[in-house]
Amino acid sequence: MTFPVSGTGSAGMEFCLVNLIEPGDEVIIGVNGVFGTRMVEVAERCGAKVMKVEAGWGRIIEPQQLADALKKVARPKLVAIVHAETSTGALTPAEDLSDLAHKAGALFLLDTVTSLGGCPVKIDDWQVDAVYSGTQKCLSCPPGLAPVTFSPAAQEILRTRKSKVQSWYLDLTMIEKYWSEERIYHHTAPISMNYALREALTIVSDEGLEARWHRHELNHRALVAGRRKRLSASRDILERVETWRSSAKKPRRSSPISQHRRSASRARAATAHWSGGCGAAARRWCCCTAATGRGCTGSATSRSCRAASR
Ligand SMILES: Cc1ncc(COP(=O)(O)O)c(C=O)c1O
Repeated sequence: MTFPVSGTGSAGMEFCLVNLIEPGDEVIIGVNGVFGTRMVEVAERCGAKVMKVEAGWGRIIEPQQLADALKKVARPKLVAIVHAETSTGALTPAEDLSDLAHKAGALFLLDTVTSLGGCPVKIDDWQVDAVYSGTQKCLSCPPGLAPVTFSPAAQEILRTRKSKVQSWYLDLTMIEKYWSEERIYHHTAPISMNYALREALTIVSDEGLEARWHRHELNHRALVAGRRKRLSASRDILERVETWRSSAKKPRRSSPISQHRRSASRARAATAHWSGGCGAAARRWCCCTAATGRGCTGSATSRSCRAASR
């Protein structure tokens, strides 16, 4: 089942978690940046018992880490990972993690907000049970919809829930009745966004997925080559992590805040958008989401970065 949830990528995240989690469920979440942290927050609000698998910012979640965590959880219901952690650019390979989750009897959930359309996302091959994305990143569409996919196993979990879905607006058991024979009204779909997404997908299809992945990779490599001398811890990150969207920029010796101001004014002069970095990296790293290959999108990400960095 695949359809666009009304709302941005965070609505997609919340949609997947509220529909699949019931209070008391054991959930394992990979945390290597802002969006893994956000998933933990949402899952806890659903009443889940969350075990975090943590990696440093810019690092990926390694299969061994997940294997170790799975040994400590009696009945894991769900393993959730951010495919491309936008706050650092780290792209965690998903296939082995999915395999481990399934062997432990858990569903596997993948955040593809920044990866869908920009690099291979092989939902069927990797056997991902729940996926959400956002329209405004590598699909080059305005923000406002969150494409989601549920596997038959995820749909079955929904059918056998004992409690009501915690969110009325995102309750799939109600939303799906709208497109069933019964046609029971739920909420007004943001129909202009549906047209926008249709157009964006047509453009993706015209370009061709592989050509699109190649374009994003090329832009990533060009950005990295140009910034290599200035990149922080990132020499290691660059070597190890296969990603082609974001890069981290090391602050100069001067204070992070004055560096931020200088960089912001340079960015303004270049009519680019400058954000303050996210969470632990606020005012220390640049979080430029070069998702479209044209530099920061100035999208919701940047606003949330600014909020997080206050
Ligand atoms: C990896 C990831 N997950 C979730 C989100 C949340 O999406 P949105 O800002 O569209 O609500 C973002 C936004 O940048 C993201 O990059």
